Amino acid sequence: MLAVMTVADQARTKSTYGLQWNRFRILRPEEDRATFRNRTALTADELAGRVVLDAGCGMGRYLRMAAELGPRIVVGMDLSEATRAATQLTSDLHTVAVVRGDLLRLPFAPGSFDHIYSIGVLDHTPDPRAAFLGLARLLKPGGRIAIWIYRKERPAVERIMDVHRAISRRLPLGLLLGLSKAAAPIGGLKRRLMGSRAWIVQRAGVALHLATIGVSMHPDPEVRVCDTLDWYAPGFLSRHTADEVRGWFRAAGLVEIEDLSALQTFFHEGQGHGINLAGRRPSEVSSA
Ligand SMILES: C[S@@+](CC[C@H](N)C(=O)[O-])C[C@H]1O[C@@H](n2cnc3c(N)ncnc32)[C@H](O)[C@@H]1O
Repeated sequence: MLAVMTVADQARTKSTYGLQWNRFRILRPEEDRATFRNRTALTADELAGRVVLDAGCGMGRYLRMAAELGPRIVVGMDLSEATRAATQLTSDLHTVAVVRGDLLRLPFAPGSFDHIYSIGVLDHTPDPRAAFLGLARLLKPGGRIAIWIYRKERPAVERIMDVHRAISRRLPLGLLLGLSKAAAPIGGLKRRLMGSRAWIVQRAGVALHLATIGVSMHPDPEVRVCDTLDWYAPGFLSRHTADEVRGWFRAAGLVEIEDLSALQTFFHEGQGHGINLAGRRPSEVSSA
């Protein structure tokens, strides 16, 4: 029964992102650049001449950004038809290759990549830890991986999220898209209320937020619709603790584990808070 549910949820994740990333080709270069820098801490110096994997590239906004920093090759991989959008977005860049595939069945040889990054992807797989361990095996000695995934919230908030998504991920995608559009003004209202200096107004904003927890508060209405769909629609959306994710890094034998969220500057209020860690495969295997 569990296996049947997993297959159905995976199919739903695939159709969600096939629709989402071909419908919303939302490029916001200034914000995307800040997000890429914050969530990977990768620079042109580090990427120059390297072989890089964007694991779960979606429509390719960060793939394009990485390619512009001068790697030898950057591969974008995604489960869904989002690869069509990513291929179009990067068609003028000869150092980019886009492949369609599942992070849980990786089509690359171990030790293939100098850098791997994965932004908002592992939490949409049925087994984020296994997906992470598979990616870590793809690192060359000395190679580095950076990931961003959703953070686990307080138990009461987790329960609200679970109830909302238990319903929403079963609704037809077309209906959910319509509801996400209809909900966009609520995201704007939450933003204004929660930003108020008046305590009572701010509390009203928090109450509205709990009732509509996945409705995005992004300042740009089109991004708000896309982000709302992104939260309510996929088959899988797991949240994790920093300790749990650090455990994945240790289990993979990675060192120099860094908390990138500690350095983050937020581009706008209401941007998702997540677990954002990076780590490196040791350069030399000890003979001891
Ligand atoms: C929230 S989107 C993030 C896309 C991109 N990283 C970005 O931030 O723009 C999640 C992406 O993960 C992809 N994905 C989900 N499960 C996957 C899997 N098992 N293997 C590969 N990609 C997967 C989805 O198709 C989707 O494009």
